[in-house]
Amino acid sequence: MDEVQQRAEGVSYAPSPPEEFCGREEEREQVSAILSRAGEHGQAVMISGPPGIGKSSLLTWFAYEVQERPGGLESPVLRGEVFDLPGMIFSAFRDLLKDLRRSAASARFGDALGTEGMKEAIRYADDVFEKYAAPVEPVGLLSKTGEEIIGIFARSPEVGYDRVYQAFEELLRELGGLMEGTGRVAAVLLDDVHLASSLDRRLLRDLMHDLPPGILLAFTCRTEGAADPGYVSMQEGIRNLGFPEVTLSGMQRHEIQEMGERRFGLSIGDAAADLLEDTSDDPFSLMACFNTLRHRDLAPSVGNIADVLAGAEDPAGLAFATLPGSGRAWAEELCVLNPPFPVPVMACMLDLQGAGVTLMMDRMQESGIFRRLPGGDYAFAHPLLQEHCRRGLTADARAAFNAHAADCFESSMHRLSGRLHVLLSLACHFFNAREYGKAADLNLELGVRFYHREDYDTALVLTQRAIVSAEHLGDGALLAAAQQQRDLVRQKITGPVRAVQ
Ligand SMILES: Nc1ncnc2c1ncn2[C@@H]1O[C@H](COP(=O)(O)OP(=O)(O)O)[C@@H](O)[C@H]1O
Ligand SMILES: [Mg+2]
Repeated sequence: MDEVQQRAEGVSYAPSPPEEFCGREEEREQVSAILSRAGEHGQAVMISGPPGIGKSSLLTWFAYEVQERPGGLESPVLRGEVFDLPGMIFSAFRDLLKDLRRSAASARFGDALGTEGMKEAIRYADDVFEKYAAPVEPVGLLSKTGEEIIGIFARSPEVGYDRVYQAFEELLRELGGLMEGTGRVAAVLLDDVHLASSLDRRLLRDLMHDLPPGILLAFTCRTEGAADPGYVSMQEGIRNLGFPEVTLSGMQRHEIQEMGERRFGLSIGDAAADLLEDTSDDPFSLMACFNTLRHRDLAPSVGNIADVLAGAEDPAGLAFATLPGSGRAWAEELCVLNPPFPVPVMACMLDLQGAGVTLMMDRMQESGIFRRLPGGDYAFAHPLLQEHCRRGLTADARAAFNAHAADCFESSMHRLSGRLHVLLSLACHFFNAREYGKAADLNLELGVRFYHREDYDTALVLTQRAIVSAEHLGDGALLAAAQQQRDLVRQKITGPVRAVQ
């Protein structure tokens, strides 16, 4: 175990670092076999399973395998992650472009990827994504009156979906072409596709139809309720094309023992491992159990493990129980935010300035409960932690934290770059803070905007919020307008020909 982890308050709940990745031999072989075929024909694979089962960790291991491992392929990896904020259309794809741009400028891959053709393809794709998805309003949006907001938002994008598809497809073709004859394969990795907008999923499915040689596309999808539309639509897509799905299930006895040893220095006996395999065999639960044993300085005996497991309502609760009070308070405040969390907003939420902000960032890493994202923003180390915190809030605390979050977004807006994220966050926080006047206007107008972008699922969420807000306000005209808009969206969703799935 490395020094940093030993000094930390516990082992982090973030995806496992590749050097600590345990077990999953069969799944690793499956993924490696797909990689070996990608030089000849483009390949895709879906990694699926319930939350906490190890999907993101397997993706991280795979990224290391493709790009870093000495003697491996030493090939470029592009990685994006989808977060739980409906409406962030093509945001994960734009992260892939960032990685590609970085690789093309790097000493390592610059020779192979830094061609004019590649640079041009990146520029073009980024421009098209920007035109399709980015909001066009000026910074001072919220000081404007309702009518002005309408004028700004209710427009169709400058480019259509077909241009977006064509731009990204050409980019992959260019990238695959550069891999040809080098023995390399470019890996395109997307985490948590079940959260993606229907547009993102459509793009992914369309791209899978015609993946050029030299490209491997791997993505993860959370399976929960059988009716999860995100998962079901991707599973259909992957099956129809004959690509594999690698489904992760609980860890087996030897994998549990390996995890205890490698990540926690705990020697787990056979009986204790059997108990864990029977009762909490997913890696997230194992992490929570092992962290607790270590925190309480308990030997990993059958009795101690049974006690630890019996004492918590769920594994995320167990994880929080070992945190100091200050860490829990931070988690409570921040859990209302939609990831990725921008640093200025977090600092405002926690009322920190200057050196306090730097200290905050260090403490967040050490807590094991938060993780730093590649762009410098933050998220909970694992979504189950955030979901647990949200569930624990009283209705009043939830409203108060959301009101604070809305204030923080408004006051930091000039320092934030992700305009769409800001607007969608504000629309969510005003609504959850029960500030229905602001919530109604913003959600209705954003709803119209997503309607024009053919993201009907997001449009429906936003429009429903506008309806509830108008009801609370007792504003009949606003309510009628919002209901009319909702009916338009519903027609698109249930209509005979669905444009987007
Ligand atoms: N194979 C593994 N070896 C070691 N730790 C793992 C492994 N798989 C998952 N973990 C740990 O378990 C937790 C949940 O894993 P994660 O990959 O985030 O799951 P998912 O993405 O399916 O929700 C993380 O804290 C991670 O570090
Ligand atoms: Mg994950």
